[in-house]
Amino acid sequence: MSNSTFSVITLDGPAGAGKGTVASLVANKLGWRLLDSGILYRLTALAAMRQGVPLDDEASLADLAEHMPVDFTPSGRVMIPGTDEEQSQIRAEQVGKNAALVAKLPQVRQALLLKQRGCAAAPGLVAEGRDMGTVVFPGARFKFFLTANVEERAQRRYLQLRNSDAAVSLGRVLADLVERDEQDSSRSLAPLRQASDAVLLDSTGRSADQVVEQLMGFLRDQGLE
Ligand code: DC
Repeated sequence: MSNSTFSVITLDGPAGAGKGTVASLVANKLGWRLLDSGILYRLTALAAMRQGVPLDDEASLADLAEHMPVDFTPSGRVMIPGTDEEQSQIRAEQVGKNAALVAKLPQVRQALLLKQRGCAAAPGLVAEGRDMGTVVFPGARFKFFLTANVEERAQRRYLQLRNSDAAVSLGRVLADLVERDEQDSSRSLAPLRQASDAVLLDSTGRSADQVVEQLMGFLRDQGLE
């Protein structure tokens, strides 16, 4: 971790709430680093799939997580290794599902916890995921929890996925999302939940820009910028 002073903003919430887009826009506005923590779970799952490591072999998965290099691009994004095609696999539904399985394993979470804390750097870090405000950065200066109703989250996911998969159905996406919410919220370790000191933002019926405006307004009111 850097010795210089830095601030952390955490943004947690369920899949499809718009965290990725909102966190990225906020990081750009502030000129801060962005930690998309889901990528670390996805990279671990992808490495396991490529190397044939079973998704219940906790010790081997934790070893993969621990030895995974986490670097940042010059623009402050987590570096995803590989060709363009390999990089695009990180967003595949199957990788997301396997990431949720890998994310239940305590040794994997522990290995990634240290890596995530090591990502904070001056002047600041925007960290998005499921447990940024509750576990990884409990002392963060600003915490937000972003949600939206499940039908709207499914609709957004469906429109994204349809670009690459013409056969995808809205009903299937909704069912997968409900299952993922359940997995993420019910796991015993670091479940998805709003930190008691996090500000709740709801993106139902609102654009990412509107949510960013609200969030930036809150930061200004609290003396940032
Ligand atoms: O946000 P995402 O869809 O890229 O995340 C993929 C999975 O990784 C998600 O289902 C649960 C897990 N995850 C986690 O357990 N903790 C985080 N901070 C981020 C993601």
